[in-house]
Amino acid sequence: MRRYLPLLLVCLLAAGTAAAASVRSAWWWLAAGPLLASAVLGCRDLLQRGRPVLRNHPLVGRLRYPAEREGARPGGGTAREPFDGGRETYEYLVPSLRPVEPAGEPPVVRVGGPTCSQPYDMALLNVSAMSFGALSSRAVLALNRGAALGRFAQDTGEGGLSEHHLRGGGDLVWEIGTGYFGCRGEDGGFDAREFADKAALPEVKCVSLKLSQGAAPGSGAVLPGVKVSAEIARERKVAVGETVVSPALHRMFSTPRELVLFVARLRELAGGKPTGFKLCVGSRQEFLAVCAAMVAEGVTPDFVVVDGSEGGTGAGPAASAGRLGMPLTEGLITVHNALVGVGLRDRVRIGASGGVATGRDIVTRLAQGADYTNAARAMMRAVGCVGALRCHTGACPAGVATQDPLRARALHVADSARRVLRYQRETVRDAVAIMAAMGVREPAGLTPGLLVRRTRSGAVRSYAELYEWLAPGELLAGPPQSWQADWKAADPDSFG
Ligand SMILES: Cc1cc2nc3c(=O)[nH]c(=O)nc-3n(C[C@H](O)[C@H](O)[C@H](O)COP(=O)(O)O)c2cc1C
Repeated sequence: MRRYLPLLLVCLLAAGTAAAASVRSAWWWLAAGPLLASAVLGCRDLLQRGRPVLRNHPLVGRLRYPAEREGARPGGGTAREPFDGGRETYEYLVPSLRPVEPAGEPPVVRVGGPTCSQPYDMALLNVSAMSFGALSSRAVLALNRGAALGRFAQDTGEGGLSEHHLRGGGDLVWEIGTGYFGCRGEDGGFDAREFADKAALPEVKCVSLKLSQGAAPGSGAVLPGVKVSAEIARERKVAVGETVVSPALHRMFSTPRELVLFVARLRELAGGKPTGFKLCVGSRQEFLAVCAAMVAEGVTPDFVVVDGSEGGTGAGPAASAGRLGMPLTEGLITVHNALVGVGLRDRVRIGASGGVATGRDIVTRLAQGADYTNAARAMMRAVGCVGALRCHTGACPAGVATQDPLRARALHVADSARRVLRYQRETVRDAVAIMAAMGVREPAGLTPGLLVRRTRSGAVRSYAELYEWLAPGELLAGPPQSWQADWKAADPDSFG
């Protein structure tokens, strides 16, 4: 309640000086006038619903969080221009002298390999994994309603499948992390029956097994105790107020072969819904070991989501953020090539996350090998986040990343859902317009040759030239020298 004190003080002072002006001397109006105006402004802040920060911090929010305004650019910061002066390196997408008409309907990507019986049409931009726990119930619901309005998908994050994910009617990718929240047995392991029951819900369109995320690869996710409310504790079967640290490792598998077999089991339990995994790639050999297991078992995930080391987290500034794991460009190109090399790329869709915020980002990632993209922080911005970087304290001024019901109340679900819808729709529209200007009708037409980088040496090269691109099945037929050592060391029975 301390955050309402400044307004209370202003109201009291306004009343006091106004009384003095009418009883003692008209000179008091010099003080009473501005104070009364401020009091009116503060009350308006408190009652309006478009700007959650001002509801939570009337008057003061105007000074402390000027970044919050309707339509603030998701992704934050100033627009990244490809040719801003003085930069030594830059990238650009290649326009065509034969542009085409932009597609009328936004393109979708069919996710579902040969053993998937309920394929899903994924939008080009979706809500990346963010748990109820990291986000408030209202933020989760607003994202879900936005997804329902715009027909795109929301990833639940590893915190489980809460009622707030199910109330808005949006399509869900249900994420299972090492804590198995939402399908967690009494011993903390995986509960197959609970998983099957929930996976059967019509809102659940896909299942994603989280191996790692870019902000903290190699360590389990953390939910600070201050955000573990009674509801979160119930959802996750943990103690109220105690920090939840998910294990770094999955219990259900310890080798690449066991991993792909577990994915197959999840898909079966989920009634044939598309099932895949998310990771931030560490070493090429490790991912090749997973590909070798796919080949050996004849089992493929329906999708792989590649998260770049530039990814974010709801637990606040992570010590390892950006230091461990491949940045998205590297990870994406590695995963794409590995799947092409083992001849399985046509069965597995690739999602990309890590800094995706604009239409240009989407087109860039598609040209580098992705089929679709996910955004977390840009979606948070659309919901109302002002980048206060207080996610881990539970004191989010915008009501987005908090479990304090009073703070969360400031977030108006219907307004935020509309902002999410608008953001996703305009961003995809932008991507489609860029593709049209490049002469490309379908996302599949985006190739590495259409993305060009000027390197520090001054050389201008397309991605087709800068990176090595394998031919379908090339690793099986005879890998090029640069891949030989990693492919030889890739063991389906050991991560290495
Ligand atoms: C608030 C917040 C919570 C997150 N929670 C999860 C999670 O539960 N599971 C997961 O796989 N990734 C999680 N992430 C990572 C994002 O899904 C995404 O992979 C990463 O932030 C990169 O995308 P971005 O640059 O669009 O934020 C979270 C990120 C944020 C910002």
